[in-house]
Amino acid sequence: MPGIDYSELIPNNVNLSSDRRLQRALEKWQPAYLDWWNDMGPEGWQAKDVYLRTAVSTEPGGWAVFDYVKMPDYRWGIFLADAEKDRTIGFGDHMGEPVWQEVPGEYRNILRRIIVTQADTEPASVEQQRYLGATAPSLYDLRNLFQVNVEEGRHLWAMVYLLHGYFGRDGREEAEELLARRAGDEDKPRILDAFNQDCPDWLTFFCFTTFTDRDGKYQLASLAESGFDPLSRTCRFMLTEEAHHLFVGQTGVERILLRTIELMKQDPNEDVTNLGGIPFDTIQRYVNYWFSYSLDLFGSEVSSNAADFFGAGIKGRYKEDKYEEHTALDQIKIIQMLQDGKLTAEEIPLRNAMNEVLRDEYVVDCEKVVEKWNKALAKAGTELRIELPSSRFHRRQGIYAGSHFDPKGNLITEEQFEAKRTEWLPTREEREYVASLMKPVYEPGKMANWIAAPRKGINGQATEYEYVRV
Ligand SMILES: [Fe+2]
Ligand SMILES: [Fe+2]
Repeated sequence: MPGIDYSELIPNNVNLSSDRRLQRALEKWQPAYLDWWNDMGPEGWQAKDVYLRTAVSTEPGGWAVFDYVKMPDYRWGIFLADAEKDRTIGFGDHMGEPVWQEVPGEYRNILRRIIVTQADTEPASVEQQRYLGATAPSLYDLRNLFQVNVEEGRHLWAMVYLLHGYFGRDGREEAEELLARRAGDEDKPRILDAFNQDCPDWLTFFCFTTFTDRDGKYQLASLAESGFDPLSRTCRFMLTEEAHHLFVGQTGVERILLRTIELMKQDPNEDVTNLGGIPFDTIQRYVNYWFSYSLDLFGSEVSSNAADFFGAGIKGRYKEDKYEEHTALDQIKIIQMLQDGKLTAEEIPLRNAMNEVLRDEYVVDCEKVVEKWNKALAKAGTELRIELPSSRFHRRQGIYAGSHFDPKGNLITEEQFEAKRTEWLPTREEREYVASLMKPVYEPGKMANWIAAPRKGINGQATEYEYVRV
């Protein structure tokens, strides 16, 4: 396994210099990427020193170094996990055949579509989060935001490498388009809905990194199973970086919850908003909103595309190895379908239900996160608990879109839903209230009033460490 070559213009562990054409194409894309980063990356922070980690190896453990870096100088590059010797395709119609090192002609279009859709989410989230630095609750959080941002940028590099390296001219055109679309833009929006939403405050950021980055984890994990080996290896290394994004989200929400409880205890008769905290119910409503938006990203419950992707050996299940059978033929999954205005259990051929299989894994993971929050709440001496809504609640994609469900998943009428909307989803007033709390705290070790301090710092540093030189 060659280490990462940092002497090159584009750091890489794919021996890029041996492929002149590809190297030239990527070196042409690089300045366009940097222009995009300077235009659409963290606004107002490009010249500051940030304590960032950079990948130096793809070995698990000790793969990163930490140092002060100005973000435009971050060494974005192309890092693939080690090739597995004699790897074979682990599922679908090509089960047992050697993995592909080139794109099979018959799957070229669907592979490109999958890669472009994943790639598009990476710059999108950087765009969504570009103003958050102006209101960071601490230097610790500011640094975490920027770490997430530069790594999403690197994930874009990971996908663009595949497009340039394996899809010829179409791939190069797609790579340009990835720098042309903009999150939330009316004319040229990003591909997926959740990536066109605003991220105006840090509660949103922490919910986004908990729930939407976690969708990313499951998409990447299912593509890490892919028979197209370069895609598999790329995704495997991306997952290493992704873990930190999920940590930032989960601990961020937890710290807000703990601070809210602390304020409630300080002055039990006072409304938390009068103490400058975020009300518990508001946090629950943000959770409802971002969980439901993130569920949409898995695609429709019943999907012939999903069946094709699985059959082709392109997109597997989460940890395909743990299943005993890998063709998914002659098997079914029970899904609650809507029939004549009623929920009815129906048997769906398993391959067509693959989106739902992956979504189920995701929901279990989200439940674990909520369990951890609730443990922290119990330890803080409160009976309040966060609840994950049903995966039918507030959906805009798939078979439940267009119908209405309460957070328990019961089918209700539109009138019933609208009557409860402000109880279940964030209102404009509370979004404005949360926004009004967003005032920057740039003194090392200090926290904004609405969030508790983290348990420990980054890379063994103290929480008082100067994570960003303001
Ligand atoms: Fe990412
Ligand atoms: Fe991420």
